[in-house]
Amino acid sequence: MSSANYELHGSTAVITLDNPPVNGLGFDLRCGIVAGIDQAAADPAVKAVVLIGSDRAFSGGADIREFGSPKSFAEPNLHSVINIIEACRKPVIAAIGGVCMGGGTELALGCHFRVAVANASIALPEVKLGLLPGAGGTQRMPRVIGVEAALNMIVSGNPVASEKLKGTALFDEFIDGDLLQGALAFSGKVVAEKRPLKRVRDIKIDYPNQEAFFQFSRNMVKGVAGPFPAPMKCIDAVQAALTKPFDQGMKVERTLFLQLMGTPESRALRHAFFGERTASKIPDVPADTPTRKIARVGVIGAGTMGGGITMNFLNAGIPVTMLEMKQEALDKGIATIRKNYENSMKKGKLTQEKLDQRMGMLKGTMSYDDFKDADLIIEAVFEEIGVKEAVFKKLDEVAKPGAILASNTSTLDVNKIANFTKRPQDVVGMHFFSPANVMKLLEVVRGAATAKDVMATVMQVAKKIRKTAVVSGVCDGFIGNRMIEHYGRVAGFLLEEGATPAQVDKAMEKWGMAMGPFRMGDLAGNDIGWAIRKRRYVEKPSIRYAKFADRLCEQGRYGQKTGKGWYLYQAGNRKAIPDPEVDQMLEDYRKELGITPRKISDAEIVARCIYALVNEGARILEDGIASRASDIDMIYLTGYGFPLHRGGPMLYADEVGLYNVARSMKEFAASSGDSFWEPAPLIVKRVAEGKSLT
Ligand code: 3HC
Ligand code: NAI
Repeated sequence: MSSANYELHGSTAVITLDNPPVNGLGFDLRCGIVAGIDQAAADPAVKAVVLIGSDRAFSGGADIREFGSPKSFAEPNLHSVINIIEACRKPVIAAIGGVCMGGGTELALGCHFRVAVANASIALPEVKLGLLPGAGGTQRMPRVIGVEAALNMIVSGNPVASEKLKGTALFDEFIDGDLLQGALAFSGKVVAEKRPLKRVRDIKIDYPNQEAFFQFSRNMVKGVAGPFPAPMKCIDAVQAALTKPFDQGMKVERTLFLQLMGTPESRALRHAFFGERTASKIPDVPADTPTRKIARVGVIGAGTMGGGITMNFLNAGIPVTMLEMKQEALDKGIATIRKNYENSMKKGKLTQEKLDQRMGMLKGTMSYDDFKDADLIIEAVFEEIGVKEAVFKKLDEVAKPGAILASNTSTLDVNKIANFTKRPQDVVGMHFFSPANVMKLLEVVRGAATAKDVMATVMQVAKKIRKTAVVSGVCDGFIGNRMIEHYGRVAGFLLEEGATPAQVDKAMEKWGMAMGPFRMGDLAGNDIGWAIRKRRYVEKPSIRYAKFADRLCEQGRYGQKTGKGWYLYQAGNRKAIPDPEVDQMLEDYRKELGITPRKISDAEIVARCIYALVNEGARILEDGIASRASDIDMIYLTGYGFPLHRGGPMLYADEVGLYNVARSMKEFAASSGDSFWEPAPLIVKRVAEGKSLT
């Protein structure tokens, strides 16, 4: 099946790439292009060829969906396609509009001529997938736009507007108006003037003092590349363009590309790329589900969360009415929002005009009557079911029919909240993370009765306010917090057995977590976990907890807010200082329990904490609370400081090998006697089938 259409326009053959959504250069499309070139070459009536894409994209590059499958490298691979085009005896012209990225840009560089519209988006973004341009981009781009500009483009992966590259050998002409007509006119000129065919590979390349330049680049890039190997390899490949003949440079590029393709870092980035896009799709909610119009938003509660939530909508140009019970609380909430914007202004991230615009869209109120026109109302009041009940009953009275009623609850039962109203189909959980104006994650909690169009609307709204929305079913803690509870629980046992909070945090942070579990506890407030545990002791007495955390809380060591928690904090400073008093308390505690402390390795710390996430994640998948493993990973990547280069807990388990993970879990079960560590049935099943989680 061809994904390229062939048509004659006079003496020019037009090959239109037709592989929606973005003309990924998959196997069928590659075959289609080659078939078109062959047909044009064989037809004496054809004097030139134009390659063109859709309005949206010339091409978004290699088809990432094919990566890892035999189709990815099946002939004609992208190299062969480009070689065939380059060797064609008739002029081949790339007509570039919309997005032109990665392999798409490399395809264009293989053509003899390139014309473009002014606002096409040109990029070599492979580095963002942990790769480097693998079809000649590192060798050809420096030849047309210069070494420095090309290196910038390749190492950053950022798109550049085509007009910014005017005057370089990348483009032969810019087209005003219809791209195809312009390209055909250009083709006519090329033929009439008998212009010689230009091959980018033949362009001479030089750079004075290149050794010093590349050394400087390496020093700069090393600092920002972190655990990712690709950026440094990009430099190696571009340097080869200068130091080696073209074909040898291509070989260097190919070797490095294949090396990177096999790295866990690249797999993690590709997983996150698709994970983010897949998360927005709900299996039983069709993509064409009509959505409700959201033009005005109401927020109840002007506290920590209400303020942050409000800012998201103001930033997206959606007016908000914010309700509080008392004028004082309302004034305080509004003042905090203004202060946040002023801080952004001081940092040069916001203009006074924008600040005024945003504050102008915010209205404070103490009357529910002001919610009459709201299309979406989000509640962020105290976390008490009685308070939520009063709020939702009131909303049921005042909100217009069809308004979406959302709760930001982090622990309460969304179904129960929905049933406080006579319209549970309009009720949904929108669980933002603190600080809500900064954190990317939004857990969208789907109640038993939540209507499909409500889900579709909320997912669309999330995109507008630039959140990564992931759907969760209703359960205690939803996806993220249900998992983190076990992570914290396991970390507690590590202390009991001999580790210190600082040792655990250091091991986890070295592994890549933005914050270890104890620093995180101090930041969020240890009293929150304490309250949950107290509830668990009654509701689920079978779950074991290390009780040392309770002892800490009994002493008022809630964390940063009380100046003391697992660590010490100096006034106005968030730096966690290890506290010998806590270490002593721990020692006394172990003695009381008759535990002889043992030395615990960093590897064990990491395995126990991360596998706790994996095991509970697998149970969440099995329960249908999450639709897919990648949804769980997106939650951890965007809401819990999980390292991007590891791709999330579920992908990490696959990288370690699910069999190995299950074995470790069984060992932990045997040594601790904690039934939590029995591998989740889903893990057992997948291991037996030789399958992975993701
Ligand atoms: N291959 C396959 N599918 C792709 C794709 C690609 N290269 N790029 C995007 N898509 C898909 C997305 O998965 C999504 O699919 P869905 O609708 O089924 O979820 C759809 O295209 C639209 O993507 P976005 O939602 O991201 O749409 P936007 O309009 O916001 O962005 C884009 C479009 C700028 C092309 C963006 O998707 C993007 O940056 N894509 C990645 C481009 C890239 O990295 N290309 C390099 C690939 S590697 C390569 O070329 C190797 C070569 O050097 C050998
Ligand atoms: P907060 O205490 O900072 O703010 C709550 C605000 O609601 C207060 O300003 C209070 O005056 C107001 N309020 C209370 N009852 C009200 C009522 N009946 N009508 C109008 N206003 C009322 O609390 P926070 O942290 O903002 O939490 C709010 C909700 O968000 C809770 O459900 C909490 O579980 C949830 N949440 C909190 C997170 C956090 O990290 N703080 C993270 C995610 C969710």
